[in-house]
Amino acid sequence: MDARSSVPVPPPGCPAHGSGGRVPLYGAEFAADPQAYYSYMRHYGPTAPVELAPGVEATLVTDYSTALQLLQDSASFRKDSRRWQAFNEGKVAPDSPVAPLLAYRPNCMFSDGAEHLRLRQAVTDSMARVDTRRLTRSTGQVSSYLISQFGGRGSADLLGDYTKQLPLFVFNELFGCTADIGDRVLFGITGMFDGINAEKSAEVLFGAVGELVALKRSQPGDDVTTWLMQHQAKLTDQEMVNQVALLLSAGTEPLRNLIGNTLHRLLTHDTYAHSGGLIDEAIDDTLWENPPMSNFAPHYPATDLDFAGQRLQAGELVLVSFAAANTGPALATARQAGSRAHLAWSAGPHACPSKEPARQITMTAIENLLNQLPDVQLAVPEDSLTWRPGPFNRGLAALPARFTPIEPVNRPADPIRAERPVRQQAEPKTERVGRWSQFLNWLTK
Ligand code: HEM
Repeated sequence: MDARSSVPVPPPGCPAHGSGGRVPLYGAEFAADPQAYYSYMRHYGPTAPVELAPGVEATLVTDYSTALQLLQDSASFRKDSRRWQAFNEGKVAPDSPVAPLLAYRPNCMFSDGAEHLRLRQAVTDSMARVDTRRLTRSTGQVSSYLISQFGGRGSADLLGDYTKQLPLFVFNELFGCTADIGDRVLFGITGMFDGINAEKSAEVLFGAVGELVALKRSQPGDDVTTWLMQHQAKLTDQEMVNQVALLLSAGTEPLRNLIGNTLHRLLTHDTYAHSGGLIDEAIDDTLWENPPMSNFAPHYPATDLDFAGQRLQAGELVLVSFAAANTGPALATARQAGSRAHLAWSAGPHACPSKEPARQITMTAIENLLNQLPDVQLAVPEDSLTWRPGPFNRGLAALPARFTPIEPVNRPADPIRAERPVRQQAEPKTERVGRWSQFLNWLTK
């Protein structure tokens, strides 16, 4: 039986009333209480009909085992979004707010089969070369720098002043960006995610990454860009640019939200104050209950097929709700303390290849903040906090906090930093005014 033959009636006031029965995953109501929407959607069965943006229709898997079944069946479900029927038929405008994350780009996220294996292997092997001590060190430096910018004030927006900036600075370091290139990477990615002149921002980002790739071809360094380039997959320049741009953008938004959502949890739940494993436990609980990517893993059936009681058409958009799958009633009893069987990193061949470095950056960023601002607390009532709208990412708009003001922290001693390639590369003598340049200046003060 088709699970949608007994479509549940949405509760009074639910916006699904006006959307042809499709549950809208955009707008302030969804952002304010997504769990209420997931509970409602479970009435449809393991999948529910949703709208990602006005007119963008999709099927959302909300059940944990059905999600695993889809994520592990790469013969039936493909990632290449050039198969997306509605997009190809012009039913989705190229400037739709969801298009930047769904439209095809030649990178591992949108490829299948042997091509995916080749591109992904280059990513996993290169990320595996990241030295954990060095990553902890550079995250600590970025963290101390950012705290030094607001620590004397006694108050800050931990989102805007801290978690939003930290991943990009750390990536600039990991990828071996010069001052000039790094400034443009920061400008481009920030603009793309904030929706500020997204087209111009993407142009700046791709231009900067193109220069980074050219630079590393002539001056290899001790960084992820160089390791990707030297990999036996022999990536072309175009592949290099798309892979590096993917890593920078796929990492930024979820990473800032993992740090932000975990900080939110720590500042709003007293239970962690009594826990020895404080931050580690708060990260796990966040990944289970408030994952940074709430709904994603876009897939397209290779042929018309039956799946979880549904008839799906070839090329229709199917996504997974990691947030709903993680919090389903069946899991509430199965979930053990310390279990990491959640789907926050997805699963199957396209699962996040960077969960260890992402977790390590998160851990260091939070640990350093709590060490330097031990009495940090929310500066506003918890229920006045707002979450950014959008179907894919889960993150706060702001996290206002207060703390006892501290003296500006001096730059930490840095034997590793001295070997970094940023200093070795010849750069045009331009005035350094960007945020990454200011950080580099602070490091060498
Ligand atoms: C160092 C930071 C990060 C980097 C460089 C990174 C990179 C990537 C890349 C390259 C992929 C595509 C893999 C493929 O298609 O084979 C991916 C997928 C994914 N990542 Fe990450 N990521 C980072 C952090 C995070 C964080 C913090 C989360 C959330 C907890 C996350 C969640 C995911 C998910 C759910 C997918 C699957 C997306 C899909 O199937 O379409 N990532 N990541």
